[in-house]
Amino acid sequence: MNTRLHNPLELVRVTAEFFADKGIASPRLDAELLLAHVLEIDRLQLYLQHDRPLVPSEVNAYRALVRQRGQRVPLQHLTGETTILDHSFKVQPGVFIPRQETETLIETCAGLEFGAEVRQIVEFGPGTGVIGLSLLVRWPQARLFAVDLNEHAVRLSEENARRLEVDGRSEIIVGDALQVELPTCDLLVSNPPYVPAPAIGGLEPEVREHDPHLALDGGPDGLHFIRAMVDPAMAALRTGGWIALEHGDDQGDDVAAILGAGGFADVAILPDLSGRPRVAVGRKA
Ligand SMILES: C[S@@+](CC[C@H](N)C(=O)[O-])C[C@H]1O[C@@H](n2cnc3c(N)ncnc32)[C@H](O)[C@@H]1O
Repeated sequence: MNTRLHNPLELVRVTAEFFADKGIASPRLDAELLLAHVLEIDRLQLYLQHDRPLVPSEVNAYRALVRQRGQRVPLQHLTGETTILDHSFKVQPGVFIPRQETETLIETCAGLEFGAEVRQIVEFGPGTGVIGLSLLVRWPQARLFAVDLNEHAVRLSEENARRLEVDGRSEIIVGDALQVELPTCDLLVSNPPYVPAPAIGGLEPEVREHDPHLALDGGPDGLHFIRAMVDPAMAALRTGGWIALEHGDDQGDDVAAILGAGGFADVAILPDLSGRPRVAVGRKA
């Protein structure tokens, strides 16, 4: 790389072209975020410091990350974190990377009418902990009981709980959420595995090669986990409590029917920020 490129914006421009050639969906944003990560500055500072000369060690560190991103390693595995609703969560290979769509599920839960303070949340499949831990920050009186089959996810969500200083109110265990004994709760929340198994091979390489398939695979039609969670959820919820879950954008009608058949009232399907059906809720009447 020649010295002409050793200023932030020129480096970003060239990298964005490289990423676009590699089929990366947001080439410029990824180029900026990686450089901001290497320089340990905010992304917007790249523009304020546009004529900052870069030293060779910075350029080399950036090039190493750019090479990996070009091989479709997820951006979040390279930076080690992601931001969801203003909170930073540590991310590691082997644990599902939180998606922006999940902000809709968190905001939906925060807006539900419980009729009293939320004391107990149960979460199926916390992964990095993004949903339950964000809600603990919102509700200082609440406790979280979360179950994930992936031991690595449990350790990572415990670490994220410490980062957000809500570890004293969270119990996160390794197990099959569909089998363990649950506390009575006000809210049962989950972003479950909901990708139809035959569709996994057609997902972007960042997803199919780096997210654990345990986090994706919802069985032949994607609805296996959702069908199976309805009865344990109903049993754990107090009267007036809510189930809230994320689903695929073409699964809204099916999920509404599953919740209705499972005895939930006030079933609703809500859109994500791009207007696609994404979140289902239902109340135990
Ligand atoms: C789509 S990921 C969601 C992770 C996180 N809640 C989020 O929104 O980023 C689904 C999670 O469910 C977990 N999981 C899958 N089957 C499970 C089961 N039977 N019991 C508990 N957790 C399970 C996976 O390990 C994974 O962490």
